Amino acid sequence: MRTNILDIQKLKDRGERIPMVTAYDYTSAQMADRAGIPMILVGDSLGMVVLGYDSTVHVTLDDMIHHIKAVVRGSRQALVIGDLPFLTYTTVDQAIQSAGRIMQECGAHAVKLEGGAEVAPIVRRLVNLGIPVMGHIGFTPQSVHQIGTRVQGKTSSGAARLIDDALALEAAGAFGVVLELVPAPLAREITTHLRIPTIGIGAGVHCSGQVQVWHDMLGLYSDFKPRHAKRYASLVETVEAALQTYATEVREGTFPGAEHSARMDEAELQAALSQSTAGKP
Ligand code: KIV
Repeated sequence: MRTNILDIQKLKDRGERIPMVTAYDYTSAQMADRAGIPMILVGDSLGMVVLGYDSTVHVTLDDMIHHIKAVVRGSRQALVIGDLPFLTYTTVDQAIQSAGRIMQECGAHAVKLEGGAEVAPIVRRLVNLGIPVMGHIGFTPQSVHQIGTRVQGKTSSGAARLIDDALALEAAGAFGVVLELVPAPLAREITTHLRIPTIGIGAGVHCSGQVQVWHDMLGLYSDFKPRHAKRYASLVETVEAALQTYATEVREGTFPGAEHSARMDEAELQAALSQSTAGKP
């Protein structure tokens, strides 16, 4: 049975911490699903770790649609959340169009969008139309050119604004809120004051759950390692070593071996040569 937002709320109500991970393709979705991760986010972080851009600002709705479809096909159990990319939810009508494509064309089960109280009317309308919405406050990567990449909410006014943003998202019907780069004590207070789960990334251990970017946690992205990312594997080294061995074996002629090759009856081959024009003037 596919996880839904009611199941996610039950985890929060039972005090069970909620793991979430990003995934961007069919095989990674299969792995996340088999590992028992209940929520997969197809984040617009794919702009950096998959498409090689310097920020998420370049990611289009069509880019997202392409990857969300693959993740939905690869997963059976997890709730799949598709990110709404930059400038695809500037009005309620545009948000309905964009979220509608993510739900209908891709088969995603929820969308995520960045922003606090200012996006609450959009969240409310999407939720009223039957689209589950996850909020995202703190460091919001789509605003990187305005706010840089620093921790948000360190001053009393900034912290109060984040608390009010979280409450506004909950009141608008969001089923969860990502807290990115928020001081741990503030994330704890927000989590305490919300009924819905908070999902932290760089927001300390007191959130209801955590999210990590696939390539960061598996050591697959070597351009940059965020401080909040923990490497559970170092796959860059593993993959590069495998590729070097492959290249060596091809150069030496030890790959492919007989077990990787199809056999043919020698008499059939000789007959083919005599029937063909090969070697004939
Ligand atoms: O795009 C993304 O991967 C995200 C997470 C970092 C929360 O928004």
